[in-house]
Amino acid sequence: MNKLYEATFDIDDDGVFCNGNIIVTDEILTVNTGDIKELCYNLSEINELVISSQIGCSTLEVKLKNESIAYLCRFTQSCLKTVSEFVIAVNYYINTGKYIPLNKEHAICEKCGQPIVNELDFCIKCSKKGSILKKFFSISKKFLPGLLFCGLITLTSKVFLLIVPYLNRVLVDDYLIKAQDQSYGAENPIKIILFLCVAMLLCYILMRFFDVMATLLRNRLTSKFTNDLRVKLYTKIQMLSMSSVSRRTTGDLIKRVSGDTAEVIGFINRTAVYLIEASALFIGSFIYLLITRPMFALFVFLPIPFVFFAISRLRTFINRCYEKQWVASSRANGILHDIISGIRVVKAFGTEENEINKFKKAESKVTEIAIRNERIWSILFPIIGFLLTCSEFLVLYFGGQSVLGNYSSGNPMTIGELMQIMTYITLIYSQMRWMTYLPRDFARATTSMAKINDIMDEKIEIESCENAQTPVIQGNISFKNTTFGYKAYEPIIKNITLDITKGEMVGIVGYSGVGKTTLINLIMRLYDVNTGELNIDNINIKNISKKTLNESIGVVFQETFLFAGSIYENLLYANPKASPEDIIAAAQTANAHEFIIRLPDAYNTIIGENGYTLSGGERQRIAIARAVLRNPAILILDEATSSLDTETESKIQEALQRLIKGRTTIAIAHRLSTLRNANRLIVMDKGSIAEQGTHKDLLQQKGIYYNLVMAQKQTTKMADVNQIIEKERILC
Ligand SMILES: Nc1ncnc2c1ncn2[C@@H]1O[C@H](COP(=O)(O)OP(=O)(O)O)[C@@H](O)[C@H]1O
Ligand SMILES: [Mg+2]
Repeated sequence: MNKLYEATFDIDDDGVFCNGNIIVTDEILTVNTGDIKELCYNLSEINELVISSQIGCSTLEVKLKNESIAYLCRFTQSCLKTVSEFVIAVNYYINTGKYIPLNKEHAICEKCGQPIVNELDFCIKCSKKGSILKKFFSISKKFLPGLLFCGLITLTSKVFLLIVPYLNRVLVDDYLIKAQDQSYGAENPIKIILFLCVAMLLCYILMRFFDVMATLLRNRLTSKFTNDLRVKLYTKIQMLSMSSVSRRTTGDLIKRVSGDTAEVIGFINRTAVYLIEASALFIGSFIYLLITRPMFALFVFLPIPFVFFAISRLRTFINRCYEKQWVASSRANGILHDIISGIRVVKAFGTEENEINKFKKAESKVTEIAIRNERIWSILFPIIGFLLTCSEFLVLYFGGQSVLGNYSSGNPMTIGELMQIMTYITLIYSQMRWMTYLPRDFARATTSMAKINDIMDEKIEIESCENAQTPVIQGNISFKNTTFGYKAYEPIIKNITLDITKGEMVGIVGYSGVGKTTLINLIMRLYDVNTGELNIDNINIKNISKKTLNESIGVVFQETFLFAGSIYENLLYANPKASPEDIIAAAQTANAHEFIIRLPDAYNTIIGENGYTLSGGERQRIAIARAVLRNPAILILDEATSSLDTETESKIQEALQRLIKGRTTIAIAHRLSTLRNANRLIVMDKGSIAEQGTHKDLLQQKGIYYNLVMAQKQTTKMADVNQIIEKERILC
């Protein structure tokens, strides 16, 4: 039996809070309240699941095929969203036998039972770190040999570092002490001493030389690596479908491209280097000691298992601490991004103080977690450091005894040898202490790697098929029994069949939220239909190359997004090949030329990120000029004139009339008067076509369209009355 869906609920049969869950496999549904009693139903006997709302809580019931209704569980508002999604998906499975993955927003890791955070689809704690690393490095394979070469140079530099204490020992034991004892007699060893000093200096110089080489090469490589990774991520984000992009917040995507790449590269640049250095020093010294003084090798090794044991025990705890910090900082970033992009709304509502408080709260949460995490580290770090120092004392004590000849067995140690061993130990432990940071840095880096992998692994849903066609689009659009939902189990467009012929102007009307924009999203292929077909010029839209499709469709939305730059650049965006004459002609068609030339720098006037320096009507005219420049066969107008005043609207209407000529036009409009030129009107209701025909036909039908027109007449009348009152007030 495969487990398909799971939802949690929080009230038991006696009305007491509990941790219950409902599990659906491909055969049965079970309800678990934590006690021995368990409800179980065969999926074949279930008709559907239903939620009934009560005061303060809701009940989940099951309608059985024998018409009876049975109680399953109760839950509070906090579970409502997850249970609702669960119910829709399970009902869809019962009816169609098709499994659709649930929204992962509230997913729980099956292994550790903790919620899945970090905007990932899987639990980072329970996933294998090795596979994350492997996958990550497979993204940018070409940098791996270079990085390994850097590691090799770093290793070489440490070999020279390890030679120095040996030379020092020879200097002390063989020359300095003997010279003091005057065992050389008249022979003066000054030349040899000088030679040894020069050799040591040379070792230091070589060590530094290799260090500098490694650093230079590494910096060069990691800079290129960062660039490569960011470009790859950004390119992938551009290729993702709208549903993949809208599943994540803008802040999250930006953080992945800039923050997570920096985190990973920082790890490679710092931590991985330290790791190589520490391993080289440790392995080199340890092998030397093992051969010459095995007992002392044991002393060096003694604290390491304790340290590693302590660190591995603490790993989960440390990971969780840093994950919390990541989530909090991601939230703060999200707020920052949201508020700064919506600063106009904030200012308009005068809610600056609220927003400041919101950000303050989010940031103080980050600070609070960061302080707590750093406090944990500041306590752990000295304890682990102390453990490591213990072995230095052991070596000094037993080494001292050996020098004094207190051991009958084995060679007594010389002073030079003790100095050499002590230097090795100091070298090892100075690196080892730092290594205690490794789990923390590793946890951060693997989390970031997993998030980068997550984007790179994401399937590109909307892809041109291999032999995509590149026809010259004429503009015939036909929907055949098309069904689509942003979540496949919740259709927004329901079984629509509609033919729009070349050159026709079709108006789409209907109450808000009925799926008008969704319908045109399908024509633009921002999403693929779930079932049925969508053909353009009798070719399935999936077989038309994305480029051809994009070039053949022009869109004017209610909100026009203008990029930071000049008006000219913004117009050029629609068609980079357009000549200045084309641009001016397009602006003239769009009734935009006059206002543009009145601006201080005319076409070179710089407009803000959102075109704040232009009014709504002006922005709209730029959008129309953009559409003109595209010269599309299919034109889509989604509430293009809804937010404009009547005077501006008439100018835009004029422009639109010129634009519409000879193109298939689909216009969605709230103000029904703007659709007076439409050949046909389509009235949508709850995802289906409710009525269609000309304005006159539809009025006669006295259906939804009639009601919409009447409602609008009423508001227009009220607006007229208000205007008269206002005029009279001014006159008085
Ligand atoms: N990106 C999206 N993801 C999920 N649901 C969406 C998305 N966009 C729109 N919807 C939902 O689809 C329904 C239809 O929306 P839309 O087509 O925009 O309606 P309208 O007729 O007003 O243009 C609404 O219930 C809306 O909440
Ligand atoms: Mg809409």
